[in-house]
Amino acid sequence: YIGHESLPRKNSHGFELTDPLAAAPLQQVVSASAGNTWSGAPIVNGVAGTADLPVLNPATGEVVGHTTDTSPEMIDNAFAVAAEHQRAWNRLGGNARANILDKVADLYEQHMNELVAIICREAGRTLNDGISEVREAVDFCRYYANGARKHFSEATVLPGPTGESNELSLCGRGVFVCISPWNFPLAIFTGQVVAALAAGNAVLAKPAEQTPCIAHRAVQLMHEAGIPQQVLHLVTGTGAAIGKPLLDNPRVAGVAFTGSTETAKHINMQLAAKDGPIVPLIAETGGQNVMIVDSTALPEQVVDDVINSAFLSAGQRCSALRILCVQDVIADNLIAMLKGACEELVLGDPSQLETDIGPVIDEKALGLLENHRERMSMEAKTLFAFDESKRPQNGTFFGPQVVEISDFNLLKREVFGPFLHVVRFKAEELEDVIRRINATGYGLTFGLHSRIEGRANAIFKRIDAGNCYVNRDMVGAVVGVNPFGGMGLSGTGPKAGGPHYLFRFANEKTKTVNI
Ligand code: NAD
Ligand code: ALA
Repeated sequence: YIGHESLPRKNSHGFELTDPLAAAPLQQVVSASAGNTWSGAPIVNGVAGTADLPVLNPATGEVVGHTTDTSPEMIDNAFAVAAEHQRAWNRLGGNARANILDKVADLYEQHMNELVAIICREAGRTLNDGISEVREAVDFCRYYANGARKHFSEATVLPGPTGESNELSLCGRGVFVCISPWNFPLAIFTGQVVAALAAGNAVLAKPAEQTPCIAHRAVQLMHEAGIPQQVLHLVTGTGAAIGKPLLDNPRVAGVAFTGSTETAKHINMQLAAKDGPIVPLIAETGGQNVMIVDSTALPEQVVDDVINSAFLSAGQRCSALRILCVQDVIADNLIAMLKGACEELVLGDPSQLETDIGPVIDEKALGLLENHRERMSMEAKTLFAFDESKRPQNGTFFGPQVVEISDFNLLKREVFGPFLHVVRFKAEELEDVIRRINATGYGLTFGLHSRIEGRANAIFKRIDAGNCYVNRDMVGAVVGVNPFGGMGLSGTGPKAGGPHYLFRFANEKTKTVNI
């Protein structure tokens, strides 16, 4: 039971991967999935299209499925069917929709091992990450289901003068377009889609082109749970190929987007120029996330939290730590400990339990990281470079790197991978560090390690970041517990997994009756 929610709900259960008995069923399913291929085809009106573009496993380069750029005609058809059936879905009411979303959660839990296997093969995520991701997707379903029960079932009665009754109700806006990234190919995909559905919208869901297969399987399970095939459609393809027919359509009533800041700005301009209603864009984007460590911090805990925040999930989390600011008097000691911990990290096959860091998503991502390493080798001091002889021969692997930089300005944009930048500061420079963090314009996550409570509170008030973590790591926000999302270049809000999220997907209607 979670405190701020008025309806009972439990977050999903995980299982202990260090217990061989608990881990064995998952390992069997994942091993048996080697060589499998999955469908990454679009699903419009319940019918899967044909697909012939290969989807690659980033850890091996093997083909794991096929997808396609959904044709403009198919997209137009999906809009027409979705618009026609959205009203009935909306009229069903919050309670009935919530019951279906709870069934989606149940089905995801029943298919946990299969879903982890697809995530691992298609997105290169480790087993631990895969499990966390299915759990987060389950939590989104149940959390937004309760939101629908609470806010979309009955109108709120408002006061009024004698002889007049007033009430306020929430309803779906129409057809929502949900565009998601590859780095949480199930959790973010599901979170956007179920929020839009919970609020009474029909949905066209567009997954990242790198991860259409897990999205295809998720949509199959959502239909099986009872979400009408006419209300939820899957449209696959690259942004370049299908972005225009998807966003120019006058039936678009809202867009939920998670991805890079550049793409969000592009979509925003496109929506402003299109025919039809003025529509909201909910954008969750990148970060330039900083952790400050002062001289009172516990070094062992800092090292643990830095490793988790910067390197797990191959640093491919929007929340991941990019810049570590360490007070000069403890910097040498901390860096030495950090290098020791980096030596222990295992880069390799994400389907193996001992792996800490899997591949980055594709050749393009690898190229960007290699270019950044090249630039940093000239402009920064290398503190730790992964031993290249331990890098797997196949696949798009990039070993962890730590460099020391003198100035935040060396980093113009998000570096999306296991690359940590260290900056030293003197006690009297703390103000300036805070100013420079805010000056990046991003505002997603922020970390602080300090044992001075007053300092933590003072810094929290002045940092412009959506999620601030004190004396812990900076990743792994939990639905209903750490509502997640940023500000500035990092996104528009509202926070995913938070109590205000569903409202942005809704229209409000006031009914005034002269009795
Ligand atoms: P991306 O912007 O390249 O792509 C995201 C999605 O947008 C994909 O589905 C892509 O196909 C689509 N897209 C691209 N161009 C489009 C266009 N013109 N029209 C319509 N759709 C288009 O981002 P990515 O590389 O897939 O994901 C990584 C980024 O996502 C990072 O910047 C990361 O920080 C961010 N991210 C943010 C959050 C968050 O909650 N703030 C969470 C995860 C990832
Ligand atoms: N919500 C994800 C995290 O907190 C991105 O790491």
